[in-house]
Amino acid sequence: MTSLAGAPLAALAGNSGRFRLLPFFAAASLAMFLLVAGALWYFERQQGAFFRDVQNQQIDFFKQVQDDFASRQDSVARRDLLSIHEAGNVNLTRLFANALWERDFAPFVGKAGQISVDECRALADVPDAKDGKPKPSAEKKACFAEIGKKIAAFPEFAGLNAKVFEMMKKSTVFKIKVFDLRGITVYSSEHAQMGEDKSLNAGWLGAAVDGKPTSELTFRDKFSAFEGVVEKRDLISSYLPVLAPGSEKVVGVFEVYSDVTPFLNQIKATSADIRKAAADNQDKVEAAAVADQETVDDSGTRTLAIVMLLLLLLFAALFAIVWRAAALIARQEMERDHAQQQLAQSEKMASLGQMVAGVAHQLNTPLAFSSANIQMALQALARFALPLQVAGSFSRLVKATDADKVMVNVASARDRVADIDPADLDVQMPQAMLQDTLQGIEQMRELVENLRDFTRLDRTKTSRVDLNKSLHNVIYIARSVIPTSIEVKEAFADLPEMDCNVSQLNQVFLNLINNAAQAIGEHGTITVRSLVEAGRIRIDVEDTGSGIAAEHLPHIWDTYYTTKPAGEGTGLGLSIARTIVTEHGGEIAVQTRTGENSGTTFTVYFPVAA
Ligand SMILES: Nc1ncnc2c1ncn2[C@@H]1O[C@H](COP(=O)(O)OP(=O)(O)OP(=O)(O)O)[C@@H](O)[C@H]1O
Ligand SMILES: [Mg+2]
Repeated sequence: MTSLAGAPLAALAGNSGRFRLLPFFAAASLAMFLLVAGALWYFERQQGAFFRDVQNQQIDFFKQVQDDFASRQDSVARRDLLSIHEAGNVNLTRLFANALWERDFAPFVGKAGQISVDECRALADVPDAKDGKPKPSAEKKACFAEIGKKIAAFPEFAGLNAKVFEMMKKSTVFKIKVFDLRGITVYSSEHAQMGEDKSLNAGWLGAAVDGKPTSELTFRDKFSAFEGVVEKRDLISSYLPVLAPGSEKVVGVFEVYSDVTPFLNQIKATSADIRKAAADNQDKVEAAAVADQETVDDSGTRTLAIVMLLLLLLFAALFAIVWRAAALIARQEMERDHAQQQLAQSEKMASLGQMVAGVAHQLNTPLAFSSANIQMALQALARFALPLQVAGSFSRLVKATDADKVMVNVASARDRVADIDPADLDVQMPQAMLQDTLQGIEQMRELVENLRDFTRLDRTKTSRVDLNKSLHNVIYIARSVIPTSIEVKEAFADLPEMDCNVSQLNQVFLNLINNAAQAIGEHGTITVRSLVEAGRIRIDVEDTGSGIAAEHLPHIWDTYYTTKPAGEGTGLGLSIARTIVTEHGGEIAVQTRTGENSGTTFTVYFPVAA
């Protein structure tokens, strides 16, 4: 036996199982819209940030270029200043040397060279407090200062000094020193510096050993110049080799300090100008960058707004289309439901028609024999007329006579009495016929009563009923439409009452019995069984029909599924039955077997009334 329970009603019922297109579409596309909007906003911001980075990099680069340019310009100007002045100083010392060296300085330097410095040099150096490098101690300095004093005490010193002052006065040279080849300061226009040992000084070494002039730019807060003490001056100090006339031989070293304060101020002013121009340019570039950024941001925001608007329009258009489609689908579904209802209605009408034909047939038999009986009874009664007339005359005669005996002229009555056949005077025959007729009428009354119960007009009303009565009714009606060769058995157990719509349940059982009869065809048995099982009412409609083939079994509950030829079945019977049963809180199932001992049992379960 294979069995299949009915699927839950919700899955079948059109409305509850319908795909909710509009809310799904709205939710999904709105989510997508937000996602796209978010992504666009994110990328827009990324782009803005990238542009800002590029701008900042360019601004930094431009600033670097300008700074580089300004500082280069400054250092180049200072370098040029240095080399121009160095060249000037070289020329100056050459003139100075030409004028004074041979005659005045050479013997003076030679004489100073006589003074030994070994003693002073032998004195130890001390580490400097600042950088830890060895520096001459105070004692050593004093020793060399002593040597300076000795040189200054030379008688020719005053004359030489006066000549130097005379030559350098009113020039840009602020100070001049002369060193011998030992590195000792044999002359300084600042006399206190005479005697100092410069043998370790890089400038002196460059000039004395390599014969190359070296210059550097220095700033002094206070400085003793030929003209007296001057303040806050930019100076160029140059160590310059003194060459023996007509040869490359270094015979001494000059150190010349010349004032470049005005030139350097000019360089500083130019540099400041350039830096200011650079700063202005920087401001301009930055302002332009800010403006560009705003333009880019604006255009990004505008693009974003346009895209959002387009997306919104797209969403609105799609929503309208889907809304329209959903409405169309809903209308089509309604039309289909309506058509289905109409079909179910027409099926009901068709089965009603079938039933009416059967009922008419059933009415016809008692009607026919009742009418025949009444006619025969009438005929029998007609034969009673003469004997009754005779009996009437005799009764009158007897009543009119007081005597015990009456004389009757038989001759006059013979003709009439001769027609009376005593065999016709059987009153039992019409009585039996009328009795039969009464039975016929009783049959017709029962049929009418059943019909009235079956097609109860108030179809929506629920009432508390005994299902056995309802089943009996249905079987009674069904018998009128199914062949008499099919036996319908009732096997009812006592049932508790249940609340139901009787006319709908009648339809369920009529559908099941009709199906059973159609599956049987000619000869067979339909058993309608009722029982109480596990607190539920159970109704079986069992048949000895052909059974349901496995390939049809899964589909029998489907609306419009039928294996019967067109015109015979609509495929609505079981679908309607299941809907009604489920609406009553019940269940319907099937068990079937094909082949030998084939047959099908539909089982319906109902809850009992509370
Ligand atoms: N008792 C049964 N025995 C064998 N097959 C059955 C039985 N009951 C139903 N079926 C099968 O199930 C199918 C669907 O039945 P259903 O009552 O829904 O439609 P139908 O009887 O074909 O048409 P309708 O009831 O609308 O006249 C039938 O065509 C038939 O193949
Ligand atoms: Mg059917």
